[in-house]
Amino acid sequence: MRRALEGLVDFHAHCLPGADHGAPSLSVAVAQRRLMKEAGLSAVVATPHFYSHKEVSVDAFLTRRDGAAAALLSAAPEGPALYLGAEVLVTPGLDEMEGLSRLCIKGTDILLLEMPLGGWSRECVRTLERIAKMGVTPLLAHIDRYPITDLEYLFESSRLLYQINAVAILGLSYRARYFRHMVRAEAVAAFGSDLHGAHPAAYRAFLRAVRRARAGALTVAAHSAELLSRAIPATPSEE
Ligand SMILES: [Fe+2]
Repeated sequence: MRRALEGLVDFHAHCLPGADHGAPSLSVAVAQRRLMKEAGLSAVVATPHFYSHKEVSVDAFLTRRDGAAAALLSAAPEGPALYLGAEVLVTPGLDEMEGLSRLCIKGTDILLLEMPLGGWSRECVRTLERIAKMGVTPLLAHIDRYPITDLEYLFESSRLLYQINAVAILGLSYRARYFRHMVRAEAVAAFGSDLHGAHPAAYRAFLRAVRRARAGALTVAAHSAELLSRAIPATPSEE
């Protein structure tokens, strides 16, 4: 049997029942939690999608998210520590939305943000830059999804943290090699699975990728642990 990986954190997973389409039911979320336990994760950050144009309010989102987490932990108490965040889509002017900072990972100032796919408008980039200056620490989600030229602009111009979907470093493609280099160069703060659904093999490639990162995986684990040092874990519903 392979040695367990120490302190392994999945910083990006859609695993709260009914909070978004990642876990459409409690039974799917319980199955996801079992997969996380079997994978040997020490912690998971649940990051349901937050689309400002679809939510009624930040309060309504947080109530739904926290209720889903409590229900999940009541049904499946065993497993990795569960932290609560959101994956917030950057839209023009998002920095002006009331309550944005309440979407940070509970107990921290870390805000997981995703940029639109298929090209970033100038206003989206400016919004991201303004968010970075407003007292939260932006963690850019799944950097492996974006054009490298766009990322390199951000590396130069903004002080952000970066999360990568771990499987992106597998393979021989130019992008895989580029992102392996990013991990080795300590430019990545967190690995994520971006888990949706409960396919039995969901964490297989994730674990292979983390092992492939070798020493880089230890650096990412240390960085992730530091980011979560003040985070408040979710708890089950009170009976
Ligand atoms: Fe996601």
